[in-house]
Amino acid sequence: ELKENTVIVVFGASGDLAKKKTFPALFGLYRDGFLPTDVRIVGYARTKMDEAEFHKRTTSYIKNPDNNEEIAQKIETFKQISSYVSGGYEDDPSFQNLETYLRDLEAKTHKGKEHNRLFYLALPPSVFTPVAAHVRKNCYSADGVNRIIVEKPFGKDTESCRELLTALKEHWSEDETFRIDHYLGKEMVKNMLVLRFANIALNAAWDKNSISNVQITFKEPFGTEGRGGYFDEFGIIRDILQNHLLQVLSILTMERPVSFAAEDIRDEKVKVLRAIPPIERSDTLLGQYVSANGKPGYLDDDTVPKNSVCPTYAATTLWINNPRWEGVPFILKAGKGTSSFLSIRFPPLLQPTTLPISHYSSTLALNEAKVEVRIQFKDVTQGIFKDISRNEFVIRIQPSEAVYLKLNTKAPGLYTRALPTEMDLTYKRRFSETKIPEAYESLILDALKGDHSNFVRDDELDVAWKIFTPILHWIEGQDGPRPKPVSYPYGSRGPKELEAFITKYGFKRTQEG
Ligand code: BG6
Repeated sequence: ELKENTVIVVFGASGDLAKKKTFPALFGLYRDGFLPTDVRIVGYARTKMDEAEFHKRTTSYIKNPDNNEEIAQKIETFKQISSYVSGGYEDDPSFQNLETYLRDLEAKTHKGKEHNRLFYLALPPSVFTPVAAHVRKNCYSADGVNRIIVEKPFGKDTESCRELLTALKEHWSEDETFRIDHYLGKEMVKNMLVLRFANIALNAAWDKNSISNVQITFKEPFGTEGRGGYFDEFGIIRDILQNHLLQVLSILTMERPVSFAAEDIRDEKVKVLRAIPPIERSDTLLGQYVSANGKPGYLDDDTVPKNSVCPTYAATTLWINNPRWEGVPFILKAGKGTSSFLSIRFPPLLQPTTLPISHYSSTLALNEAKVEVRIQFKDVTQGIFKDISRNEFVIRIQPSEAVYLKLNTKAPGLYTRALPTEMDLTYKRRFSETKIPEAYESLILDALKGDHSNFVRDDELDVAWKIFTPILHWIEGQDGPRPKPVSYPYGSRGPKELEAFITKYGFKRTQEG
């Protein structure tokens, strides 16, 4: 349960992650009454700024579009419980100073009670380890629970990840450590366990006997503008596939856990990941976006080295060598500067349409990444039907959360013809009154409660890296010339080679495409 008397310290408080995700999520929890009573939030970073400036930054991404009085009020009280300390990341005196500050704060607000601390490291990887070490040494509460939240990148390959884990483990136990992959906090990712294990109809068809292929797709309609420096060093595989999409894959394919307990779930995830051999070069398609539609290409960004062959798009096919999944291709695809909306239009009036309504609502959210899982079932035995569309079960993670099943039905009328149509569960319509929590809200709350279910365990990271390390080394030229990505226009659906790539793994377009 929730620890009362907690101080949350956010390191990297002047950075992008803190501004865009951490503080808005903390505010969301505060607004809805989910933070412990008497909680205090302390931002920490190198930047020197006064509290007014700090509050301005940390609330700049908090939304209150209708100027709701109650929310405006909450923003003011949120400011009162948050404060700022500036200091270095690598020297003892800075952390001693922070410790003095925390003690004073606790003496004022949590007098005579235990003192719990949650440290959130929204930091670049170069200072992860020193900050974790200094906090443990100087700011560890002697009479309460201490927890630390860290975020990717967790190294760049198997070896560097192990080094990082070992360095952090010197100071923080596994039980105290919460490694965020924010996809695990997304509502539809959490829903997968329920969809799979609470529905016998789905569960019965969840294997190689019924499923032909699976695609897990991430499309983001903007490029790497402004983050070119970071991105070029990491690339799309480390940014998205190796963590976010692989996490989705593991939940989608793991065996049923004995219970919902964190270790039971994570044991099953690790087990299925261990059955995946390293990705083959021949199962990989790499792309890089070029200037189009008035938008600059990847190489036009000044922060990107000239002639960089860093992929901004990757499709890779993974295979799971276990009895349930043997022979089923799992295609993970992710691309920056891609869009899935170009060919989707609102349906012409008065014309019958076979597209689920959920498709149309996507057109409204052009700035969000589109992420979905598409499970395509096998063909029905030929005989009474010819050229019939395959069933597909689609889980749209974002935007506009939805689950829909494409199925064939008799076209209504005085003849017998199978028509592909869908059963559609679009959350906006079905649960219109319910607010879907932000991923970071859900994860920070879990960390405050000490629930590890939706955080990444050390051994999980290790197996995840083993799957990707060989192709990453190949892409980076560690064992030969670097492969050159194919180009695709900014704002397109991805490289034109993609169609042949997914067809090769058995994907067949249904009639409506
Ligand atoms: C981050 C990546 O982990 O996830 C970003 O570093 C990406 O490049 C982001 O934009 C996507 O997250 P979301 O929640 O917007 O899908």
